[in-house]
Amino acid sequence: MRRLVTPADFDRVHDIYMDAHVVRYLGFDPMPREAFARVFDPLFDSGCFYVYEVDTRVQGFYQVQRHRGRAAHVAYLGTFAVAPDVQGQGVARAMMTDALARLRQAGIRRVELLVEADNPRAIAFYEGFGFSHEGTQRAAYKRASEPGYIDELMYGLLIEQP
Ligand SMILES: CC(C)(COP(=O)(O)OP(=O)(O)OC[C@H]1O[C@@H](n2cnc3c(N)ncnc32)[C@H](O)[C@@H]1OP(=O)(O)O)[C@@H](O)C(=O)NCCC(=O)NCCS
Repeated sequence: MRRLVTPADFDRVHDIYMDAHVVRYLGFDPMPREAFARVFDPLFDSGCFYVYEVDTRVQGFYQVQRHRGRAAHVAYLGTFAVAPDVQGQGVARAMMTDALARLRQAGIRRVELLVEADNPRAIAFYEGFGFSHEGTQRAAYKRASEPGYIDELMYGLLIEQP
């Protein structure tokens, strides 16, 4: 079940986000709980960061932001992750299926996202939903703990409206 994040989710979101298998592919380098407010607070304030519960436990999250004006039919999907201990069990599939159904319902015609070029699991996941590689942002991503710069792949999905 999807719901908007609340301040009470801070610790659980931190623990999923900062797991070594997850943080490698999100937007910030590892940081302790005491510093995580600088990540969590903007997500909370955005009003469009959702957690996904399975049996009342938060097991995943994502942010989905609708653009404005002439791009109001477009939504950007980001900070998409599933708790490491339940990965590979279909949680991400359920979370994305639900998200896309809601976006279609809201009149969204196009969904876009960025994925790191060295994240084959997520690339396979997005392509499985029909997202297409539309372009590459070269050297757009840098992990403090690794020497190289990573390309960000731009993916998009067109949603058929009824
Ligand atoms: C990418 C991620 C969200 C997938 O979550 P998940 O719960 O493991 O995915 P699911 O079990 O729902 O699997 C859905 C699909 O993902 C792909 N997938 C899952 N595990 C995979 C693996 N080990 N290798 C390749 N593809 C895989 C498959 O296409 C799978 O479809 P299938 O079940 O028909 O084979 C998860 O691994 C994750 O949170 N990774 C860390 C954060 C991250 O990379 N986020 C994306 C940032 S752009």
